[in-house]
Amino acid sequence: ITEVKIAPSILSADFARLGDEVGRVEAAGADMIHVDVMDGHYVPNLTIGPPVVAALRKVTHLPLDVHLMMTNPDAFLKDFREAGADSISVHVEVVHHLHRTLDAIRALGARPGVVLNPGTSLALLDEILPFTDFVLLMTVNPGFGGQRFIEACLPKVARLRQMIDARGLQVAIEVDGGIGRHNIRALVEQGATWIVAGSSIFGAPDPGLAVQQLRAAATG
Ligand code: DX5
Ligand code: ZN
Repeated sequence: ITEVKIAPSILSADFARLGDEVGRVEAAGADMIHVDVMDGHYVPNLTIGPPVVAALRKVTHLPLDVHLMMTNPDAFLKDFREAGADSISVHVEVVHHLHRTLDAIRALGARPGVVLNPGTSLALLDEILPFTDFVLLMTVNPGFGGQRFIEACLPKVARLRQMIDARGLQVAIEVDGGIGRHNIRALVEQGATWIVAGSSIFGAPDPGLAVQQLRAAATG
């Protein structure tokens, strides 16, 4: 399964040494860097904004995958793209005009993605699926790293894979939250292709080794 992409989430990295941390996972073969933007309003945590994305852009060649957990993502799409975001995902629960927002992301030259929380139905994807490059299924409730994987999300990945394949679409399935060596294989088997991992990579003694171990575990 060569299409599996490993996306370390910097949320669990040492922010004072971000360049080194990203360098370690890049050298170990990570496929992209996942950047969690939280506004203290949509989710009960506050993280980073465009200046940090711009700083990351200078220290890595990897695509920057920016996950916007904010109430008003539309107001910041241009800033994140100009800072260097390669893909930008927005939550279906907050965006009022989803089709317009995805169009705006694409017009800026980035890949658009739609995010669903664990409690949000796949039915909300019905009309928008042909217009997105990827769907990010949250496998924890957004806001914090290091939470426990919600098992009910596993069959949800399989159902989304069926929806996508039945319609002949090329939409990637990204999963995010509580993922490590214990469950990555099952997620890939159900059809996930982009795997976000924060604490299981940056909480490990050797984040580079953790990336390699995750990839090995993904393919069995
Ligand atoms: C949670 C974020 C995740 C987080 C995952 O709201 O979207 O990207 O960093 O962290 P882990 O892998 O530790 O669950
Ligand atoms: Zn995330």
